[in-house]
Amino acid sequence: MLKKQRIAIVGATGAVGEEILNVLDELDFPVESILPLASAKSVGNEVEFRQKYYKVQELNEEVFKNNKIDIAFFSAGGEISKKYAKIAAKNKALVIDNTSYFRMDEDIPLVVPECNSEDIKLYKKTGIIANPNCSTIQMVHILKPLDDIFDLQRVDVSTYQAASGAGKEGMKELVEAMQSFFAFKLDEFQSKTFPYTLALNLIPQIDEFVDNGYTKEELKMINETQKILHKKIDISATCVRVPVLRSHSESLTLHFKNEVSANKAKEILKNAPSVVLIDDIKNKKYPMPLFTSDTNETYVGRIREDINHKNILHLWCVADQIRVGAATNAVRIAQKYLELTKWNFKGV
Ligand code: A2P
Repeated sequence: MLKKQRIAIVGATGAVGEEILNVLDELDFPVESILPLASAKSVGNEVEFRQKYYKVQELNEEVFKNNKIDIAFFSAGGEISKKYAKIAAKNKALVIDNTSYFRMDEDIPLVVPECNSEDIKLYKKTGIIANPNCSTIQMVHILKPLDDIFDLQRVDVSTYQAASGAGKEGMKELVEAMQSFFAFKLDEFQSKTFPYTLALNLIPQIDEFVDNGYTKEELKMINETQKILHKKIDISATCVRVPVLRSHSESLTLHFKNEVSANKAKEILKNAPSVVLIDDIKNKKYPMPLFTSDTNETYVGRIREDINHKNILHLWCVADQIRVGAATNAVRIAQKYLELTKWNFKGV
């Protein structure tokens, strides 16, 4: 039996932090205790885990010295990870970081357990494992099994990303904007989290633009996918924020070296880990964000061959951004880590 773990959650009051608690319970993770950490404004709040209540503490440099932690999940933003992740690792906590801060660091593994669990062993260098960007995780769930058979060469992806990608504030802002619309006041609505009002709108910008005209979000999908698959696949991404609360959708055009068949692709994806095939167009069955929220799988459908090219496939995938794209992947990393190492991390 796996040893019970003392868990810290940095950002325990946020959208991802709260979901990490739910997923730890659902996936039957061996938990000894929970240390919920957040900013000073949340001190005094409590979180519940398996009928026990834990008081939220303020994150500071001392908490990792004063509390013995085995695994620390970080989901409070890149600047917080930059400042505290190494301190946690120095104090013998394995860090699983949900932010983008360490993802492209070559000493730090970037892991989606269904695709590259063997990379977990690299944790020994720094005591940190990075969790990829939400849009990348659901995409590689689909790419990896197809690449294994058909040899993937190029991906063109357009995303339809939910408000949840901007945390609780993002979801709240979308709801408030919709309320303004029904109060006939949408033109007065002031958005803070998104660059424009999201209700009844699409925003073709997630994160900042860089010099080549792409956004940082789009570059994350490109660079992270190559790191996870260990392959320099050509990728182009267009990331769009849509007025959906919490599941991200993606339209993918996949170019393979070998000839592909939609039927074979369906068979492969039906048997792929953490993937659910919903592809029955006669009965209008395909994945949709409203019906995938609160689940731990990536849903795929609308799988079809290109009309002109025998080696190109088009498909559509949807996954809960807070779970598949963050909390569930983080907990699955921790599970795989425990299985692989039988817990022998002695700190860095
Ligand atoms: P708090 O609720 O106290 O502000 P989300 O991504 O849903 O917006 O959540 C962000 C999470 O990161 C929250 O738990 C938030 O805590 C936490 N957080 C933000 N700033 C800090 C900080 N300076 N120190 C610790 N936790 C922080």
